[in-house]
Amino acid sequence: MAVNDKCGIKKAGTRKLKRGGNKKKNKNKNKKNKKNKSTDSDEDIKIVGGNEAMENEYPWIVALFPKGQQKPDPYCGGSLIASQWVLTAVHCLKENDGTDTPASEISVLLGEHDLSDDTDGNVMILDVEEVFLHPNYADTFPPNPFTPGGHLLADVALLKLKKKVNLATYTPVCLPPEKAVASMYDGKTATAVGWGRTATVREPDILQEVEVTVTTLDSCKASYAGTFDIETGHICAADTGKDTCAGDSGGPLTVKTKKQHFLVGITSFGEGCAEPDYPGVYADVAKYRN
Ligand code: ARG
Repeated sequence: MAVNDKCGIKKAGTRKLKRGGNKKKNKNKNKKNKKNKSTDSDEDIKIVGGNEAMENEYPWIVALFPKGQQKPDPYCGGSLIASQWVLTAVHCLKENDGTDTPASEISVLLGEHDLSDDTDGNVMILDVEEVFLHPNYADTFPPNPFTPGGHLLADVALLKLKKKVNLATYTPVCLPPEKAVASMYDGKTATAVGWGRTATVREPDILQEVEVTVTTLDSCKASYAGTFDIETGHICAADTGKDTCAGDSGGPLTVKTKKQHFLVGITSFGEGCAEPDYPGVYADVAKYRN
């Protein structure tokens, strides 16, 4: 898809009136369908340090949830990149036994804001026609955190939707220009969004956003020396107390150039969340777009 002048433009968004407290009541909901998609090696560390997004602010954000659920309980994020295509992470589309999740079991939630409110956003639920996993995807998770041998590469997948969505309502995010390389974004402020865990809530209802700074690949490599292999194909981002976390995987890391948001990363993994010295690691979209 060529970069066009319409992609990546955020909507003004509307601020939602706060209704007291976290409304999530179905804490022990339907675990049957619930997959354990987290690649975070320490599930007890929980910090994101972001804010609630505004309603309709990120028109390209999607959530993936198991098909058939009455109330969507997302396990991953994704980004609309064209009328019929969503970009997400491969590890979101693997079952716990390592097999691939069939397209027929994935539902894509578009235009959502507050999962506990049926009246907000511009919600659409879409079926997936076909799943494309990057052929070089590889993962190895050591049994313990902070131990050597971790490896997660080419965590990039495309979902072809059964129906085209209206791009007047759902603006796709821009892909990096063809000549882009990850190092172009070193030191830039990037935005990650998702319904992944926050410092206080495991599954927030309202879409969260956080700003993090893209690090150089070398510094990320040094941070992860002795735990995960960091190599070309990764792009890392961090700031004190700010990070993506479990459940945000597959979602967008974008950098704004003039008015447009470019998808520079796909949320992939990290050692805990917002751990000092361990940036969030994202799949490098500029590398994998070709
Ligand atoms: N692996 C997590 C997931 O499956 C997201 C990882 C992001 N972690 C981080 N520390 N930045 O949802």
